[in-house]
Amino acid sequence: MSDRYRVRRAVAEDWSVSRAIRLQALAEAPLAFASTLERETAFDPDQWRERIAGAAQFLAETDDGEVVGTATGVADPGEPGTTLLVAMFVAPPARGQGLGDRLVAAVVDQARSDGADRVLLHVVETNPGAERLYARCGFARTGATVPLPHRPDLIEHEMVLGL
Ligand SMILES: CC(C)(COP(=O)(O)OP(=O)(O)OC[C@H]1O[C@@H](n2cnc3c(N)ncnc32)[C@H](O)[C@@H]1OP(=O)(O)O)[C@@H](O)C(=O)NCCC(=O)NCCS
Repeated sequence: MSDRYRVRRAVAEDWSVSRAIRLQALAEAPLAFASTLERETAFDPDQWRERIAGAAQFLAETDDGEVVGTATGVADPGEPGTTLLVAMFVAPPARGQGLGDRLVAAVVDQARSDGADRVLLHVVETNPGAERLYARCGFARTGATVPLPHRPDLIEHEMVLGL
């Protein structure tokens, strides 16, 4: 694990850097996410602020404040006690240094202190690197699958971590 980075909770004033890292993620890894660059490019500043306010969003940044990664925990509106882990991304130059693990841990720790009893996520079948990361952090496939909304020929595996 590198000390070059810190992981912190995003606040409303981070909406612009939050937008930048999210749009970078959607541009660089379009098949990794259920949303699309086209959809989120159209969001206005208030939508980005609302997204931060409505979730536990974490940012990984360098000593000089450059945001290089993000992950978010959001309460599942239909499943009390379930936190959804979404929008996990680490920029290519920062990969392979344990930031993925640290971002997952931040979301899981927050879910636990918010009283959730499980964290759920979806990972597309063509993303074995991300699935390895989640398995290393204790997640296991539930056996459930869903189609990736904008590429329904691909499936996403549901994974869960009990808290
Ligand atoms: C998936 C993703 C978030 C992983 O981020 P990351 O910061 O590279 O994750 P980690 O560093 O924790 O782990 C990645 C690899 O580095 C290795 N690693 C972890 N800590 C390390 C360290 N201190 N030094 C060297 N390597 C390390 C891990 O063992 C892992 O290897 P593996 O892929 O062979 O299992 C990143 O590749 C990404 O953003 N991909 C595109 C978007 C995406 O797929 N998001 C997930 C959607 S479900």
